Amino acid sequence: MHFTLPHLAALAATPLLAAAASVEVRQAQQKVNIDLNREYQTMDGFGFSAAFQRANLIVNLQPAKQREVLDLLFNTTTGAGFSILRNGIGSTPNSNRDYMNTILPRCPNSPAEVTIDYEGYVWDGKDSGQLFLSQKAQEYGVETFYANAWSAPGCMKTNGRDTNGGQLCGLGAYCRSGDWKQAYANYLVAYINFYASEGVKVTHLGFLNEPDMATSYASMQASGSQAAEFIKVLRPTLDRANLTSVGINCCEATGWNIAQQHAQQIRSAGAESMLYAMTSHEYTSRINGVMRTSARVWQSEYCDLNGRWSTAWYSWGGAGDGYTWANTVFNGIANSNLSAYIFWEGVQDRVTNNNNNEKLILVEGQNYEVSKRLWAFAQFRIVRPGAVRVGTSGGSNLKSMAFTNTDGSVAVVIINTSTGAQNVGVALSGYPDVKAWYTDNSHDMSAATVTLASDGTASASVPGRAMISFLFKKESAMEV
Ligand SMILES: *[C@@H]1O[C@H](CO)[C@@H](O)[C@H](O)[C@H]1NC(C)=O
Ligand SMILES: *[C@@H]1O[C@H](CO)[C@@H](O)[C@H](O)[C@H]1NC(C)=O
Ligand SMILES: *[C@@H]1O[C@H](CO)[C@@H](O)[C@H](O)[C@H]1NC(C)=O
Ligand SMILES: *[C@@H]1O[C@H](CO)[C@@H](O)[C@H](O)[C@H]1NC(C)=O
Repeated sequence: MHFTLPHLAALAATPLLAAAASVEVRQAQQKVNIDLNREYQTMDGFGFSAAFQRANLIVNLQPAKQREVLDLLFNTTTGAGFSILRNGIGSTPNSNRDYMNTILPRCPNSPAEVTIDYEGYVWDGKDSGQLFLSQKAQEYGVETFYANAWSAPGCMKTNGRDTNGGQLCGLGAYCRSGDWKQAYANYLVAYINFYASEGVKVTHLGFLNEPDMATSYASMQASGSQAAEFIKVLRPTLDRANLTSVGINCCEATGWNIAQQHAQQIRSAGAESMLYAMTSHEYTSRINGVMRTSARVWQSEYCDLNGRWSTAWYSWGGAGDGYTWANTVFNGIANSNLSAYIFWEGVQDRVTNNNNNEKLILVEGQNYEVSKRLWAFAQFRIVRPGAVRVGTSGGSNLKSMAFTNTDGSVAVVIINTSTGAQNVGVALSGYPDVKAWYTDNSHDMSAATVTLASDGTASASVPGRAMISFLFKKESAMEV
């Protein structure tokens, strides 16, 4: 084994790591045990959205800066390694303000005309910057593209516009123009086909966003029972179009309490088996307990809307702190059976958007600033799509979770909830190649020094209120 010069320099410049060996002797080791045989949910991944034209902030960056921001979001060795992109399906006839334009800017008079290959669709090859971002994400290996409509185009709705709530005609509401359920399903398939023609395979589809609320921007209201009625039209429409592998997600409630009602109504309407994931946000009520559904559960949008822009890991436990987010994501997966955690906006600027913590990266013209919320998600990047959560136990003041990845590696994520540093050991034999990374106020997924004991216990020193992630591999990747 050999060390390169920068590696040695980094070690010397990090007193914590240099002192690791002696720290280990003084401190009692907190040991975390892994139980590979106790299996929980399967993970779909971690993600964010760049809806409402936020993707254009990345499109407009010069190549070098653009590469840096894309690396921060998607790179699995230097960035957050996000694996899900949630794209907004536009519903507005124009791109005024930050609205997302629809592929159906002009509606025919009759719903029957809106077939999957209707000639009136307009594909601009941009989709508010989201196509570019999706294609870039693919270059990093992202395979999960969740296309999610906030509303149907206005002509399909009771209120004649895509904004300010209203309902889909024919879904619990009568319209003189007829029943637009099938037309809306066809339109959604057409959107997926446009992405396919650009080389991006949409894997998940949502047709509602916060349907329990009417907003001044794109919004459309529905109950869980009405959503079920539409799912019964959408599922066969996707299947007939050879899109059997596209999963339907529903219903993006504003909060967990509403989502639980949606789940119950979809189940009693007999549509649960047509659903891939129940999705919810956490604005009006936070995640609590396990949702009663046989579908997967995704927390598909949340952020701190109130605090001023902050890049702190731990300030005082504020809603925008990286450490708060590490715990939020951790708790959702450990306690509420989540298969995915999707943050709200990946990027935003300060001038036209709010100067708050809605975003992971603040992009202002050609400059950007990274929050520690991004690094909280990065600590989960070793948990890859398809990973199965397994059992952990032990360690005081430590929260731990473990996952078996599809390549056979084992990812262990640990949050040290106490305020001082201590040594943590993870007991798992038969994995000779172990690496670890940690994040705190002054580190971003920095490599930690791992000591491997003869019984296979891997240990490292973890600062207070830090998060550390261990990746165990069977074959040693070390060159001799
Ligand atoms: C991720 O970053 C590494 C290190 O800079 C780089 O070698 C690799 O090409 C990046 N991955 C992608 C897909 O760009
Ligand atoms: C679906 O796939 C089948 C078999 O490959 C093909 O015959 C059919 O034309 C396809 N249908 C559509 C709508 O693409
Ligand atoms: C967790 O979710 C999976 C689907 O991903 C489901 O099969 C399982 O029953 C859920 N577990 C509990 C405790 O609800
Ligand atoms: C957690 O942090 C506290 C405070 O820095 C420290 O004393 C303790 O050793 C850390 N725990 C682990 C397991 O590293």
